[in-house]
Amino acid sequence: MDKVKNKKLFHLFLKNPGRIGSVAASSPFLAREITKKIDLSSAKCVVELGSGTGTITKKILEKLSPDCLFLCFEIEPDFVKELEKKINDPRVKIICDSAENIDIYLKKYRFEKADYIISGLPLASLPTKTSRSILRNVYAYLATGGQYIQFQYSLSSLRQIKYFFSSVAVSFVFFNFPPAFVYVCVKG
Ligand SMILES: C[S@@+](CC[C@H](N)C(=O)[O-])C[C@H]1O[C@@H](n2cnc3c(N)ncnc32)[C@H](O)[C@@H]1O
Repeated sequence: MDKVKNKKLFHLFLKNPGRIGSVAASSPFLAREITKKIDLSSAKCVVELGSGTGTITKKILEKLSPDCLFLCFEIEPDFVKELEKKINDPRVKIICDSAENIDIYLKKYRFEKADYIISGLPLASLPTKTSRSILRNVYAYLATGGQYIQFQYSLSSLRQIKYFFSSVAVSFVFFNFPPAFVYVCVKG
């Protein structure tokens, strides 16, 4: 099953490497590292950016309260189809649109801000204008005291993230392909 998933991912990566950002789905180690850092049990609205084939999405779901709204943004229609097949949960809204449009969907579901924004977007390989616009919206639509968790395969976006967030903690997950850095950013 995972082999099929990764074959599809590899194929899409060859078509659009900058946007897909990885040749393999995230490992359970990375999904655990991301979700162990945050207490999702009292969150009312959680957003995931770049859900891909849903490895991290499923781990987040295990930790959400029954009445939490969970918005999952994925721009690649093939991945959206797979997510829709895999995830059947009333808390989840799968959105086939760019992460730049967080504000539109928060408004649609009657939320002003999100408590957590969790992202696997390949910030470093997106056009600078796109990544800047996404980060601007992440900061604007994250609640005060909320957290933005971003994983990346290098530290090259750290400066861009620090432009918006003064509090950023970085950890490293070796058991992922490729190994990944996890940034936890708090909106003070
Ligand atoms: C590195 S993959 C991570 C996938 C998945 N979260 C995982 O951990 O296996 C990045 C994902 O971001 C998606 N993506 C890229 N640009 C996007 C954008 N502007 N808005 C929403 N999703 C985007 C890609 O299609 C891809 O599925």
